[in-house]
Amino acid sequence: MSLSAKLLRTKAIITDGSSESGLKRVLSATDLTLLGIGAIIGAGIFVLSGITAATQAGPAVILSFVVAGFACACAALSYAEMASSIGGSGSAYGYGYAALGEFPAWIIGWMLICEYSVAIPAVSAGWSGYAADGLRAIGLGLPDALTHTPFDPKIPGLINLPAFTIVAILGVLLSVGAKVSSQFNAIMVAVKVVAILIFIVVAIPHVVPANWHPFIPELVIDSEGQPHFGINGIFKGAATIFFAYLGFDAVSTAAEETKNPQRDLPIGILGSLFACTGLYILVSALLTGIVPYTELNVASPVAHALLQIGKDWAAGLISIGAIAGLTTVMLVMYFGLTRVLFAIARDGLLPSFFSYVHPKTGTPLGSILVSGIIMLAFSGFIPLGKLAEIANIGTLGAFVVVCAGVIVLRRTRPDLPRPFRSPASPLIPALGVASCSYLMYQLGPHTWIAFGSWMVIGLVVYFLYGYSHSRIGRAASNAA
Ligand code: ALA
Repeated sequence: MSLSAKLLRTKAIITDGSSESGLKRVLSATDLTLLGIGAIIGAGIFVLSGITAATQAGPAVILSFVVAGFACACAALSYAEMASSIGGSGSAYGYGYAALGEFPAWIIGWMLICEYSVAIPAVSAGWSGYAADGLRAIGLGLPDALTHTPFDPKIPGLINLPAFTIVAILGVLLSVGAKVSSQFNAIMVAVKVVAILIFIVVAIPHVVPANWHPFIPELVIDSEGQPHFGINGIFKGAATIFFAYLGFDAVSTAAEETKNPQRDLPIGILGSLFACTGLYILVSALLTGIVPYTELNVASPVAHALLQIGKDWAAGLISIGAIAGLTTVMLVMYFGLTRVLFAIARDGLLPSFFSYVHPKTGTPLGSILVSGIIMLAFSGFIPLGKLAEIANIGTLGAFVVVCAGVIVLRRTRPDLPRPFRSPASPLIPALGVASCSYLMYQLGPHTWIAFGSWMVIGLVVYFLYGYSHSRIGRAASNAA
């Protein structure tokens, strides 16, 4: 579909107040901001912040958050411009389709599927850890066989039941309707934000400034020849901690369920990103200020730090907040995944089953079902502990293309209405391309191999299926 056709479709959607896709237009700017915060604050701050401080950056993890936040801010401004001028569904996939054409759009869409479908099971593993601890605390501990996957290298089990169950529950919730999901999300977001605020208030009086020295620990080379700390550690840390920011892009996947996408999407994207960046910088500063960074290499560093300063009650509340936080991350990412699949299938690049919308609930049931079954298999049976970096690389790749797309569109379609314009263009989008590419470069060889393999599969799917079934392809052959 051409850019003009996409724009016409978007305009029709806005003026008649209903989506041609059958999805229900029920979300406001506030819903979107909460959706963004729902997707953003999760394992990144509750788990990876401490691990990154202890193994990569020391107290300078604060700077890692700043570096990753900068790359995201450049990408978010580009997202916001694309969202306001193009709208449509499918997130960066839709923008890529309109700005760059079908094949680059497929590449972006495939990267987004990587981001979401890896991030959700990875977060579900963290969720399962917190939930199993909570159940144990109330005397309902599960046996190892029910909390570990069969391929777990340390403790092989039968199934990760908590992870499996939460993904199944979220699938049901998403099938019921976008508004119900967003109301559930709003409550969970409130719980996790209150937990973080409690941490901030409790931690401030316990800061020992000596813990911030040395702020940038000296470079260390480990037995495998891998560098840690030093200036490079800040950037390596940024590439890992980038995971903490994943999710604001999921806001744009809700375009077709948004009442006024041109106005509300930029508010949702930028609002949620800036709110979370502020919280992250504060939390990481306090975390490394109340205990030495060397003690933070644990699964629940924020709760652990509070236990160290004798605030057991606050540690308990943080665990509840973490469970809520991880739940919303999975919910919004699952939402995003299904909308991207829906949009790709609607353009003919995936089988039409993915674009089936249930007539009563107005939700894309086909995508919810298929992606749900795949993620249930991942969550319940495959250990995905360290896959956060693969989600990062997929997302960074998509961000690079979106930022480049803004520069291209400004040249090829200067006439396009742009209710929101990225400031200092092309500088900001160019900085987005450079900073996201640099963070990709910082990720390790295993991540690149996994990412490369995923992209090769994507090319095979496109040329075996998408190319011959695409709407554009079919329209061209009909015309001929
Ligand atoms: N940003 C999300 C998290 O930190 C993916 O869990």
